[in-house]
Amino acid sequence: MRLKTIDQHILDQQRKFPGVSGEFSGLLYDIALAAKLVSKEVNRAGLGDLLGTLGEVNVQGEIVQKMDKYANELFLRILSTGGKVCAIATEENEKITEIHEDGFVGKYAINMDPLDGSSNIDVNVSVGTIFSLHRKRSAGPRGSEEDCLQPGIKQVGAGYVIYGSSTMLVYSTGLGVHGFTLEPTVGEFILSHPNIVMPSRCAMYSVNEGNAAYWDAGTRAYIDSLKAVDPASGRPYTARYIGSLVSDFHRNLLKGGIFLYPADHKDPKKPSGKLRLLFEAAPMAFIAEQAGGAASTGSQRVLDVVPAHLHQRVPLVVGPKSEVARYEAMTRAAG
Ligand code: AHG
Ligand code: MN
Ligand code: MN
Repeated sequence: MRLKTIDQHILDQQRKFPGVSGEFSGLLYDIALAAKLVSKEVNRAGLGDLLGTLGEVNVQGEIVQKMDKYANELFLRILSTGGKVCAIATEENEKITEIHEDGFVGKYAINMDPLDGSSNIDVNVSVGTIFSLHRKRSAGPRGSEEDCLQPGIKQVGAGYVIYGSSTMLVYSTGLGVHGFTLEPTVGEFILSHPNIVMPSRCAMYSVNEGNAAYWDAGTRAYIDSLKAVDPASGRPYTARYIGSLVSDFHRNLLKGGIFLYPADHKDPKKPSGKLRLLFEAAPMAFIAEQAGGAASTGSQRVLDVVPAHLHQRVPLVVGPKSEVARYEAMTRAAG
């Protein structure tokens, strides 16, 4: 296969839209650059002073890891230059960051989880970055929260970076899902997984079974059904749970599997489960659907959820269409 860098791929995709300004492509280049810089630090976190926590609690009520803050500040710094962005919302910041550079306001808004799975960073388990791209829609001259607070169906692009045994960037702009592997010796993302299609057969399931006591009856029934022998294969499903959404999602995307972070009644402050709509569920749902899969809250397509506030949480069930539909049917039947 001809070696194709992410820059070349972005350019090839841009050519399908004659007359565009190239700002969207420039935005993707910026994300790739920031990902390389975060990758460098993640891969040496144990050597620098980047392990452990900062003794702070973020807007999510979660302890801030040093790498959370580093990744958050780096992405904000890089994405605030170049005049492509009008507003950035991240999981780490309570409010949006409104961007204007010498009076110029960009056309795009970004929602992101700068470091996903950060509790794993200190034990050297894969972590990631998740991003979601929207077009500015507010009437005003500057970016506003309205530009970030859009339903997932309005995304013009989404993707993630996984800092694992290799660093990969996987993204879609609505023209399929494509994966790039970082060649660290030259600092280039090389196309390694063109046109990723999610296997329709589900080989494994990913859920934190430690929360089982807090699930509703439909979720419990569905997970129990995965433990029975699958008549099609003659064996039960395999259970795999890493605890980093990006890692669990990426493995399921390539090998076929369903991921669930259902609503649970463990924390009355989080009745809809732990994952954030704008920063985790919506971008992953965009990728899943572009790869031929599905993503649901259990009662609704994730991409149709109209966000009420920046840090809204939703249950997330994402995987092959047939399995997501079966989960929805079982939760409906359980009432
Ligand atoms: P983040 O590190 O951005 O807060 O995300 C962590 C999330 C997600 O990556 C993962 O799927 C989930 O937390 C795991 O939660 P549990 O440890 O409760 O299973
Ligand atoms: Mn996360
Ligand atoms: Mn995070």
